[in-house]
Amino acid sequence: MTILVTGAAGFIGYHTSLALLDRGQRVIGVDDLNDYYDVSLKQARRDRLTARGDFVFELLDIADRQAMEALIDRYRDITRVVHLAAQAGVRYSLVNPHIYTRTNIDGHLVLLEACRRLERLEHLVYASSSAVYGANAKLPFSVADRVDAPLSLYAATKKSMEMISHSYGHLYRMAQTGLRFFTVYGPWGRPDMAAVIFIRNILAGKPIPVFNKGDMRRDFTYIDDAVAGILGCLDRPPADAGEEPPCKLYNIGNHRSVSLMDYIGLIETALGKKAEMELMPMQPGDVKETFADIADARRDFGFEPKTTIEEGIPRLVAWYRDFYGD
Ligand SMILES: NC(=O)c1ccc[n+]([C@@H]2O[C@H](COP(=O)([O-])OP(=O)(O)OC[C@H]3O[C@@H](n4cnc5c(N)ncnc54)[C@H](O)[C@@H]3O)[C@@H](O)[C@H]2O)c1
Repeated sequence: MTILVTGAAGFIGYHTSLALLDRGQRVIGVDDLNDYYDVSLKQARRDRLTARGDFVFELLDIADRQAMEALIDRYRDITRVVHLAAQAGVRYSLVNPHIYTRTNIDGHLVLLEACRRLERLEHLVYASSSAVYGANAKLPFSVADRVDAPLSLYAATKKSMEMISHSYGHLYRMAQTGLRFFTVYGPWGRPDMAAVIFIRNILAGKPIPVFNKGDMRRDFTYIDDAVAGILGCLDRPPADAGEEPPCKLYNIGNHRSVSLMDYIGLIETALGKKAEMELMPMQPGDVKETFADIADARRDFGFEPKTTIEEGIPRLVAWYRDFYGD
């Protein structure tokens, strides 16, 4: 079975590709290795994947129509797609908004159009985000909740992807599932993510920025659990009953809402060093709390997150120290 993974040199894409290779599947990994964050980390992930047989790396921009069509024509045996390439991050969407519409909206459409050429395509799974819930006051967040009030452009692009996919499901009966990820963390994590910034600053003896003066809660999802959710979902394409498009949405979270201060406390314990905290106001575009209702994912593909933050944080810290030699 040949599976296309976009964003394969990214954090979640790297782990997803590894898990697919471990299952004996062939992976075509696409990434443009852009410099939004440390390119050498992306290259290191890519190198570990290319060291494995059955992994082919394709350096290209998913928003480049010609390149994407040519790619699909080279690999007509692709049956499943995991689309993770995106411009991620809420905060950077205030700095460079146009890259979000180009990668997340144009890129998604280019990918869907290219995938229409695949006669054997069974399922396309793409990354949405918990950010689509905005300031949803009802907890936990359910896919049945309204999500038409995004607080950031990043969230607006992720919601747009869901709507574009729905239209393609209706028009072309493409089976697609959008996964709304809740703060995924773990080894090989992104340097712009809070946990990694905290580790880096604490080790360097620098203050850590604590937004909303620490009055925040997040549903922190360990990477292995997120990957198990992606694979479980990928294996079960939505059925096409003929009326509704074969499109689904699920939350991929840990189903536990944890206070930011407790999370920082675990990082301090794992590092054996206290953080100096710089208490800051709420960041524009950010939300105070996230908490995933995962009942649908449990029911439909047996999603069951297993990793507590007490187990996950020390693994992230151990990887960080090993990788950065700190
Ligand atoms: N990590 C999280 O907590 C989280 C939460 C919610 C949603 N998501 C979503 O999950 C997906 C993966 O996130 P991640 O944390 O692995 O991010 P990441 O930035 O590590 O991975 C994304 C990868 O896509 C690549 N990419 C970006 N633009 C591209 C383009 N135009 N063409 C080809 N490749 C391109 C990047 O180089 C990167 O390697 C993203 O869609 C993100 O929005 C992640």
